[in-house]
Amino acid sequence: MCGIIACVGADDAVDTVLTGLNNLEYRGYDSAGIAVQNGRGLAIRKRAGEISDLSGSFVESLPQATVGIGHTRWSTHGPPTDDNAHPHTSRSGDVAVVHNGVIANYAALREELEGLGYEFTSETDTEVIPHLVDRYLEDGLDGDAAFRRTVERLEGSYAIAMLIEGENTIRAARQGSPLVVGLHDDAYYLASDVPAFLEFTDRVIYLEDGDVVAVDPTSLSITDLDGEPVERDVDTVDWSPEETGKGGYDHYMLKEIESQPEALSNTIRGRIDPDEPAITLEEFPPGSFEGITDVHFVACGTSYHAALYGARLLDEAGLRVRTSRASEYTGSVPDPEHTLVVAVTQSGETADTLGALRAAKATDARTLALTNVVGSTAAREADDALYIRAGPEIGVAATKTFSSQVVTLVLLAERVRQDVEPATERDDLGALLRALSQLPDQLEEVIRTSRAEALSRAYEGRESYFFIGHRLLHPVALEGALKFKEITYEHAEGFASGELKHGPLALVTPGTPVFAMFDGVHDEKTRTNATEARARGAEIVAITASEQRVEECADEVLVIPDTHPDLSGLLSNAQLQLVSYYTARLLDRPIDKPRNLAKSVTVE
Ligand code: G6P
Repeated sequence: MCGIIACVGADDAVDTVLTGLNNLEYRGYDSAGIAVQNGRGLAIRKRAGEISDLSGSFVESLPQATVGIGHTRWSTHGPPTDDNAHPHTSRSGDVAVVHNGVIANYAALREELEGLGYEFTSETDTEVIPHLVDRYLEDGLDGDAAFRRTVERLEGSYAIAMLIEGENTIRAARQGSPLVVGLHDDAYYLASDVPAFLEFTDRVIYLEDGDVVAVDPTSLSITDLDGEPVERDVDTVDWSPEETGKGGYDHYMLKEIESQPEALSNTIRGRIDPDEPAITLEEFPPGSFEGITDVHFVACGTSYHAALYGARLLDEAGLRVRTSRASEYTGSVPDPEHTLVVAVTQSGETADTLGALRAAKATDARTLALTNVVGSTAAREADDALYIRAGPEIGVAATKTFSSQVVTLVLLAERVRQDVEPATERDDLGALLRALSQLPDQLEEVIRTSRAEALSRAYEGRESYFFIGHRLLHPVALEGALKFKEITYEHAEGFASGELKHGPLALVTPGTPVFAMFDGVHDEKTRTNATEARARGAEIVAITASEQRVEECADEVLVIPDTHPDLSGLLSNAQLQLVSYYTARLLDRPIDKPRNLAKSVTVE
């Protein structure tokens, strides 16, 4: 998974492409490159390393240009080296290609091309593309036809942008990997994601699989593979460029943690009425889920933890629920007619989740994408989409989107349980919705008063870090540990409180920090297991609204405001996010871009 950007008609293509790459860096960051066309030929610079390495003298010698393509890479085929960095070129150097995705049949294509005398200079699957185009150009096809013929030969997933020497046209295609067109009065952009060009335009076209684009400074054409024109709507995105900038923070992660109150306000705006009490999910009026008996959740990473949260609520409401890591989803749906499959995915582009979604669709089950990104593949492929409205998230470690996913799932779970047979409604719905409306302010308070930084210092350098919680706090414990290991590189594990004694306790040694979460109602298992760990030398950090409740079992306390037990996990999670952030900061880790990870993983 990588990021691609292209522009035509820009005043300064080098600058525009570099801006786009910086905005896309969250998609991958182990090598980067740029190619520009200035009417007299292609000029290319690429190298292993971060996008910031594409600066200074390395790019200064590039010519003034109005047309360019760029790429930031997260290796899938071949290690991050200068040779493996994109753009890749044909043997003549006349064709330059950037690609996101995986060419499944690249080995066969490579063999065929080698048989024709083509020499490969990289270990990437991408390199077959410029060679194929070159081959068809040599056969006498023009740029359009050579590109189309090449795309027809590719299997797998791809978003491609291509430049041919001497032409001011960018050709692009999409199959299974995201690609968006940005439209401005006198320029066009193509990118893997909207934030790449958001500071230049907010008018976009979300391309569909099978779309082939040719764009020059004065025209844009979108066709299918056969060259037949296709109509695509122009949308206006309502994210502002400020939302995608760092806004004075050292890291996107801290900015995004601190913007959770605002994100949550957006998530619930217009959706809850504590007085009635009622939930209005605009896309899903009452009765929307009539006939559903089974709910399957599929998701990866942080989104999987959010899914566990929603699943627990539906399970307690009496529905038959299954939660699968998307990569392990079997696609077995015993009763598709009555099954709702919910793909929880921030980006809407995670390949594993899309795979599971497609497997579910193939059974005729009803599908729903719960996502942050309007126009994403999941949103378009599922029968319905429910948006979490968290705004753009750039840091690789998901923070505000987890909170918004959980809250959206709380609302969805309530709608589903009211619609199914026998319909039920929480007897404390008014209390829950009142608590939800206070949540943004309470999160603000957690962020303002948290002792997480001091505690991070106190516990720096321990061998392992454990996180425990019961019921809805179990997924929060898993999420706390995932966040911690992702950005600190320290060993961290999350467990159901009661599970600690069934094995993991063997790893508890004197001084092991155990972060234990309490919701004020379902605390007994956590209390007894924390006490047991403490007896083995663990140091317990309780996250609770009441210090008295944990007097007997805690060494330290991170206080959260009192709230409904079904929401306390969101406040606890904010404390854990801050613990991870400050620990990573002490260790001088690259917080927004942890090693080996990418925000959007578009390969299986
Ligand atoms: C990647 C990211 C994780 C994210 C997961 C699922 O692994 O590094 O932070 O939780 O993908 O992403 P999604 O966009 O589907 O929620």
